Amino acid sequence: MSPIHTSPVPGASTHAGASTTDGPVRHMATVRSFTPRRGRITLAQREALDRLWERWGFDVAARTIDLGDVFGNERPVVLEIGFGMGETTAAMAAADPDTNVLAIDVHTPGQGSLLYDAELRGLTNIRVVNGDAVELLRDMLPPACLAGIRVFFSDPWPKTRHHKRRLIQPEFAALAASRLVPGGTLHCATDWAHYAEWMLEVLAAEPALVNTTDGYLPRPAWRPITRFEQQGLDKGHEVADLIFRRR
Ligand SMILES: C[S@@+](CC[C@H](N)C(=O)[O-])C[C@H]1O[C@@H](n2cnc3c(N)ncnc32)[C@H](O)[C@@H]1O
Repeated sequence: MSPIHTSPVPGASTHAGASTTDGPVRHMATVRSFTPRRGRITLAQREALDRLWERWGFDVAARTIDLGDVFGNERPVVLEIGFGMGETTAAMAAADPDTNVLAIDVHTPGQGSLLYDAELRGLTNIRVVNGDAVELLRDMLPPACLAGIRVFFSDPWPKTRHHKRRLIQPEFAALAASRLVPGGTLHCATDWAHYAEWMLEVLAAEPALVNTTDGYLPRPAWRPITRFEQQGLDKGHEVADLIFRRR
Protein backbone atom coordinates (compact mmCIF):
# COMPACT_ATOMS: atom_id res chain seq x y z
CA MET A 1 0.00 0.00 0.00
CA SER A 2 1.44 3.35 -0.96
CA PRO A 3 1.82 5.78 1.91
CA ILE A 4 -0.69 8.60 1.92
CA HIS A 5 0.02 11.78 3.81
CA THR A 6 -2.91 12.44 6.00
CA SER A 7 -4.07 14.97 8.48
CA PRO A 8 -2.15 14.29 11.70
CA VAL A 9 -3.78 12.01 14.23
CA PRO A 10 -4.66 14.14 17.26
CA GLY A 11 -2.34 13.23 20.12
CA ALA A 12 -0.53 10.41 18.33
CA SER A 13 2.93 11.94 18.26
CA THR A 14 2.76 13.68 21.62
CA HIS A 15 1.09 10.80 23.44
CA ALA A 16 2.73 10.04 26.75
CA GLY A 17 0.72 7.03 27.93
CA ALA A 18 -3.03 7.50 28.32
CA SER A 19 -4.69 6.59 31.54
CA THR A 20 -6.68 3.40 31.19
CA THR A 21 -9.33 4.27 33.71
CA ASP A 22 -10.12 7.96 33.68
CA GLY A 23 -10.56 11.10 31.55
CA PRO A 24 -9.56 10.36 27.95
CA VAL A 25 -10.88 6.80 27.89
CA ARG A 26 -14.14 7.79 29.54
CA HIS A 27 -14.51 10.49 26.89
CA MET A 28 -13.87 7.86 24.17
CA ALA A 29 -16.83 5.82 25.28
CA THR A 30 -19.11 8.83 24.84
CA VAL A 31 -17.91 9.48 21.26
CA ARG A 32 -19.05 6.14 19.88
CA SER A 33 -17.31 4.37 17.01
CA PHE A 34 -20.66 2.92 15.89
CA THR A 35 -24.19 4.08 15.22
CA PRO A 36 -27.14 1.91 16.28
CA ARG A 37 -28.22 -0.17 13.28
CA ARG A 38 -31.74 -1.48 13.02
CA GLY A 39 -30.99 -4.39 10.71
CA ARG A 40 -33.80 -6.84 10.13
CA ILE A 41 -33.45 -9.93 12.33
CA THR A 42 -34.34 -13.31 10.91
CA LEU A 43 -36.36 -15.89 12.78
CA ALA A 44 -33.31 -18.15 13.14
CA GLN A 45 -31.21 -15.30 14.59
CA ARG A 46 -33.99 -14.32 17.04
CA GLU A 47 -34.48 -17.91 18.09
CA ALA A 48 -30.71 -18.39 18.59
CA LEU A 49 -30.58 -15.26 20.77
CA ASP A 50 -33.59 -16.34 22.84
CA ARG A 51 -32.23 -19.82 23.40
CA LEU A 52 -28.46 -19.28 23.69
CA TRP A 53 -27.88 -15.77 25.06
CA GLU A 54 -28.18 -16.75 28.71
CA ARG A 55 -25.54 -19.46 28.28
CA TRP A 56 -23.15 -17.87 25.76
CA GLY A 57 -23.79 -14.13 25.79
CA PHE A 58 -23.66 -11.17 28.15
CA ASP A 59 -24.07 -7.40 28.11
CA VAL A 60 -21.37 -4.89 28.87
CA ALA A 61 -21.80 -3.68 32.47
CA ALA A 62 -19.78 -2.04 35.21
CA ARG A 63 -18.36 -5.21 36.78
CA THR A 64 -15.06 -7.02 36.41
CA ILE A 65 -15.15 -10.48 34.89
CA ASP A 66 -12.85 -13.45 35.25
CA LEU A 67 -12.28 -14.92 31.80
CA GLY A 68 -11.54 -18.33 33.31
CA ASP A 69 -15.07 -18.30 34.78
CA VAL A 70 -16.60 -17.02 31.53
CA PHE A 71 -15.12 -19.86 29.44
CA GLY A 72 -14.82 -22.53 32.12
CA ASN A 73 -11.12 -23.06 31.37
CA GLU A 74 -7.81 -21.18 31.45
CA ARG A 75 -7.04 -21.25 27.72
CA PRO A 76 -5.79 -18.04 26.11
CA VAL A 77 -8.49 -15.55 25.15
CA VAL A 78 -8.63 -13.39 22.03
CA LEU A 79 -11.06 -10.46 21.86
CA GLU A 80 -12.60 -9.69 18.46
CA ILE A 81 -14.10 -6.20 18.28
CA GLY A 82 -16.86 -5.61 15.70
CA PHE A 83 -17.49 -9.10 14.30
CA GLY A 84 -20.38 -7.99 12.09
CA MET A 85 -22.27 -11.11 11.03
CA GLY A 86 -19.58 -13.30 12.61
CA GLU A 87 -19.00 -15.82 9.79
CA THR A 88 -15.22 -15.45 9.96
CA THR A 89 -15.27 -15.30 13.77
CA ALA A 90 -16.90 -18.75 13.86
CA ALA A 91 -14.50 -20.06 11.19
CA MET A 92 -11.41 -18.88 13.13
CA ALA A 93 -12.77 -20.31 16.41
CA ALA A 94 -13.43 -23.66 14.70
CA ALA A 95 -9.91 -23.72 13.25
CA ASP A 96 -8.30 -23.01 16.63
CA PRO A 97 -10.26 -24.79 19.39
CA ASP A 98 -7.49 -24.20 21.96
CA THR A 99 -8.10 -20.45 21.86
CA ASN A 100 -11.17 -18.86 23.44
CA VAL A 101 -12.83 -16.10 21.44
CA LEU A 102 -14.63 -13.22 23.14
CA ALA A 103 -16.57 -11.51 20.35
CA ILE A 104 -18.19 -8.12 20.84
CA ASP A 105 -20.56 -6.10 18.66
CA VAL A 106 -23.72 -4.06 19.05
CA HIS A 107 -25.41 -5.50 15.98
CA THR A 108 -28.26 -7.75 17.18
CA PRO A 109 -28.78 -9.77 13.96
CA GLY A 110 -25.02 -10.46 13.89
CA GLN A 111 -25.09 -11.63 17.51
CA GLY A 112 -27.91 -14.03 16.67
CA SER A 113 -26.09 -15.19 13.57
CA LEU A 114 -22.85 -15.91 15.42
CA LEU A 115 -24.65 -17.85 18.16
CA TYR A 116 -26.51 -19.83 15.50
CA ASP A 117 -23.24 -20.65 13.66
CA ALA A 118 -21.41 -21.51 16.86
CA GLU A 119 -24.10 -23.99 17.84
CA LEU A 120 -24.30 -25.47 14.34
CA ARG A 121 -20.53 -26.05 14.36
CA GLY A 122 -20.59 -27.39 17.94
CA LEU A 123 -18.19 -24.68 19.14
CA THR A 124 -17.67 -24.20 22.86
CA ASN A 125 -14.89 -21.58 22.64
CA ILE A 126 -16.98 -18.50 21.68
CA ARG A 127 -18.76 -16.03 23.96
CA VAL A 128 -20.71 -13.10 22.53
CA VAL A 129 -20.80 -9.68 24.17
CA ASN A 130 -23.31 -6.91 23.47
CA GLY A 131 -22.08 -3.34 23.89
CA ASP A 132 -19.23 -0.93 23.35
CA ALA A 133 -15.79 -2.54 23.23
CA VAL A 134 -14.23 0.50 24.89
CA GLU A 135 -16.42 -0.06 27.96
CA LEU A 136 -15.75 -3.81 27.93
CA LEU A 137 -12.00 -3.19 27.93
CA ARG A 138 -12.16 -0.35 30.45
CA ASP A 139 -14.71 -1.66 32.96
CA MET A 140 -14.90 -5.44 32.68
CA LEU A 141 -11.51 -6.79 31.69
CA PRO A 142 -8.58 -6.73 34.12
CA PRO A 143 -5.09 -5.72 33.00
CA ALA A 144 -3.00 -8.27 31.08
CA CYS A 145 -5.78 -10.82 30.50
CA LEU A 146 -5.91 -11.13 26.67
CA ALA A 147 -3.62 -13.05 24.33
CA GLY A 148 -4.85 -10.97 21.43
CA ILE A 149 -7.23 -8.29 20.22
CA ARG A 150 -8.61 -8.33 16.66
CA VAL A 151 -10.17 -5.33 14.96
CA PHE A 152 -11.08 -6.32 11.42
CA PHE A 153 -12.54 -3.68 9.07
CA SER A 154 -13.51 -1.27 11.77
CA ASP A 155 -15.85 1.49 10.50
CA PRO A 156 -13.53 3.88 8.62
CA TRP A 157 -15.48 7.11 9.28
CA PRO A 158 -13.96 8.67 6.16
CA LYS A 159 -15.17 12.26 6.58
CA THR A 160 -12.70 14.48 8.43
CA ARG A 161 -15.33 15.72 10.86
CA HIS A 162 -16.04 12.09 11.83
CA HIS A 163 -12.43 11.02 12.41
CA LYS A 164 -12.95 11.35 16.16
CA ARG A 165 -15.38 8.42 15.87
CA ARG A 166 -12.70 6.05 14.63
CA LEU A 167 -12.13 3.27 17.15
CA ILE A 168 -8.36 3.37 16.77
CA GLN A 169 -7.27 6.42 18.76
CA PRO A 170 -4.28 7.01 21.04
CA GLU A 171 -6.42 6.37 24.15
CA PHE A 172 -7.75 3.15 22.65
CA ALA A 173 -4.22 1.96 21.83
CA ALA A 174 -3.12 2.52 25.44
CA LEU A 175 -6.22 0.83 26.84
CA ALA A 176 -5.94 -2.16 24.48
CA ALA A 177 -2.22 -2.57 25.21
CA SER A 178 -2.91 -2.58 28.95
CA ARG A 179 -5.35 -5.51 28.58
CA LEU A 180 -2.88 -7.62 26.57
CA VAL A 181 -0.44 -9.98 28.21
CA PRO A 182 3.20 -9.14 27.44
CA GLY A 183 3.80 -10.56 23.95
CA GLY A 184 0.06 -10.43 23.15
CA THR A 185 -0.95 -8.96 19.80
CA LEU A 186 -3.25 -6.20 18.59
CA HIS A 187 -4.21 -7.13 15.02
CA CYS A 188 -6.06 -4.60 12.87
CA ALA A 189 -7.04 -4.83 9.22
CA THR A 190 -8.60 -2.23 6.96
CA ASP A 191 -9.29 -1.58 3.29
CA TRP A 192 -9.30 2.22 3.73
CA ALA A 193 -5.85 3.58 2.87
CA HIS A 194 -6.30 6.70 4.97
CA TYR A 195 -7.41 4.69 8.02
CA ALA A 196 -4.45 2.32 7.52
CA GLU A 197 -2.06 5.29 7.68
CA TRP A 198 -3.91 6.59 10.72
CA MET A 199 -3.72 3.20 12.47
CA LEU A 200 -0.02 2.90 11.75
CA GLU A 201 0.66 6.36 13.19
CA VAL A 202 -1.49 5.81 16.30
CA LEU A 203 -0.23 2.31 17.11
CA ALA A 204 3.43 3.17 16.45
CA ALA A 205 3.12 6.09 18.89
CA GLU A 206 1.91 3.86 21.74
CA PRO A 207 4.97 3.12 23.92
CA ALA A 208 3.61 -0.25 25.14
CA LEU A 209 3.30 -1.62 21.58
CA VAL A 210 5.85 -2.56 18.96
CA ASN A 211 5.14 -3.29 15.29
CA THR A 212 5.90 -6.86 14.21
CA THR A 213 6.99 -5.61 10.79
CA ASP A 214 8.06 -2.45 9.03
CA GLY A 215 4.63 -1.01 8.19
CA TYR A 216 1.88 -3.35 6.97
CA LEU A 217 1.52 -7.10 6.47
CA PRO A 218 -0.42 -9.08 3.87
CA ARG A 219 -3.47 -10.97 5.16
CA PRO A 220 -2.23 -14.00 7.14
CA ALA A 221 -3.55 -17.30 5.72
CA TRP A 222 -5.41 -18.08 8.96
CA ARG A 223 -7.54 -14.90 8.70
CA PRO A 224 -10.45 -15.59 6.34
CA ILE A 225 -11.68 -12.75 4.13
CA THR A 226 -14.50 -10.99 5.96
CA ARG A 227 -17.80 -9.74 4.54
CA PHE A 228 -16.72 -6.06 4.65
CA GLU A 229 -13.29 -6.92 3.33
CA GLN A 230 -14.85 -8.62 0.29
CA GLN A 231 -16.95 -5.52 -0.37
CA GLY A 232 -13.76 -3.44 -0.29
CA LEU A 233 -11.89 -5.86 -2.55
CA ASP A 234 -14.80 -5.75 -5.02
CA LYS A 235 -14.32 -1.98 -5.20
CA GLY A 236 -10.59 -2.43 -5.89
CA HIS A 237 -9.43 -1.43 -2.40
CA GLU A 238 -6.10 -2.69 -1.08
CA VAL A 239 -6.15 -4.38 2.31
CA ALA A 240 -3.57 -3.70 5.04
CA ASP A 241 -3.02 -5.86 8.12
CA LEU A 242 -1.22 -4.35 11.09
CA ILE A 243 0.03 -6.58 13.90
CA PHE A 244 1.52 -4.91 16.96
CA ARG A 245 2.89 -6.77 19.96
CA ARG A 246 2.70 -5.68 23.59
CA ARG A 247 6.20 -5.17 24.99
C1 LIG B 1 -17.61 -2.29 9.20
S1 LIG B 1 -18.24 -3.52 10.26
C2 LIG B 1 -17.08 -4.87 10.02
C3 LIG B 1 -17.66 -6.20 10.44
C4 LIG B 1 -16.74 -7.40 10.23
N1 LIG B 1 -15.53 -7.31 11.07
C5 LIG B 1 -16.35 -7.55 8.79
O1 LIG B 1 -15.18 -7.28 8.46
O2 LIG B 1 -17.21 -7.96 8.00
C6 LIG B 1 -17.75 -2.91 11.84
C7 LIG B 1 -18.51 -3.53 13.00
O3 LIG B 1 -17.95 -3.05 14.20
C8 LIG B 1 -18.97 -2.80 15.13
N2 LIG B 1 -18.45 -1.81 16.09
C9 LIG B 1 -17.97 -0.58 15.81
N3 LIG B 1 -17.53 0.02 16.91
C10 LIG B 1 -17.73 -0.85 17.94
C11 LIG B 1 -17.50 -0.79 19.34
N4 LIG B 1 -16.95 0.29 19.91
N5 LIG B 1 -17.84 -1.84 20.09
C12 LIG B 1 -18.40 -2.94 19.52
N6 LIG B 1 -18.64 -3.06 18.19
C13 LIG B 1 -18.31 -2.02 17.41
C14 LIG B 1 -20.14 -2.32 14.27
O4 LIG B 1 -21.38 -2.52 14.92
C15 LIG B 1 -19.99 -3.18 13.02
O5 LIG B 1 -20.74 -4.38 13.13
